Amino acid sequence: MSTDSGKQKKPGLRVLFPTLIYEDWYADYDGEREKLIAFVHTLSQEDTEGKEYSAREYPNGYTSYFSRSDLYKLPELTGVVAFLYQSAKNFAYQHHWDTQNYEPVINALFTNINSKFSFHAEHLHPYSHISGVFYVKCEAGAPAISFKDPRMARWMMPPAADGNRAENTFHAKVAPEAGKLLMFPSWLEHGVAQNQTDAERISMSCNFEMRPKSTGELG
Ligand SMILES: [Fe+2]
Repeated sequence: MSTDSGKQKKPGLRVLFPTLIYEDWYADYDGEREKLIAFVHTLSQEDTEGKEYSAREYPNGYTSYFSRSDLYKLPELTGVVAFLYQSAKNFAYQHHWDTQNYEPVINALFTNINSKFSFHAEHLHPYSHISGVFYVKCEAGAPAISFKDPRMARWMMPPAADGNRAENTFHAKVAPEAGKLLMFPSWLEHGVAQNQTDAERISMSCNFEMRPKSTGELG
């Protein structure tokens, strides 16, 4: 149908309130893989507090969440942290956030080992805007991360779906891949199913918050 302005009126879809998941791969992964795996193993052996916590709260696995969430300060992870920073900037820019006056600043980086039978219950990441997970090691059959549909009102009466769109699921799974990073809004609930393989699955999780850029001016 033609209009006076020459624009066509056609039926279509307008997308509102999307949940954006950012994906990228660490370019130096192949060269750093063994070093990173060794780093996590050493930390998991030396982190007494983390081991005790994990034994109580993270059966069959290890997490440094409560003991060492400041791994971004370590020189061993300089390359990974630079990659996370660049990805967080891309994430903010692609969300059309105000990147003129605000910038992402990392406030947590911790590591997790999912050994056989361990799992990660559904959770979100408070006190941050952007969260991410970087896969240091995972083999075939490693459990996927599962993102939960945040639109709670939709759970009231969902129509039957044809199964072709992740947007129509209640739990959208994304398979892990060594060297890959996923970034997502910190409010998005997610979890990892039980690892039923003999191979451990190692990841690093991070949090960023958007802070006002320093102007460099003295008050
Ligand atoms: Fe998480």
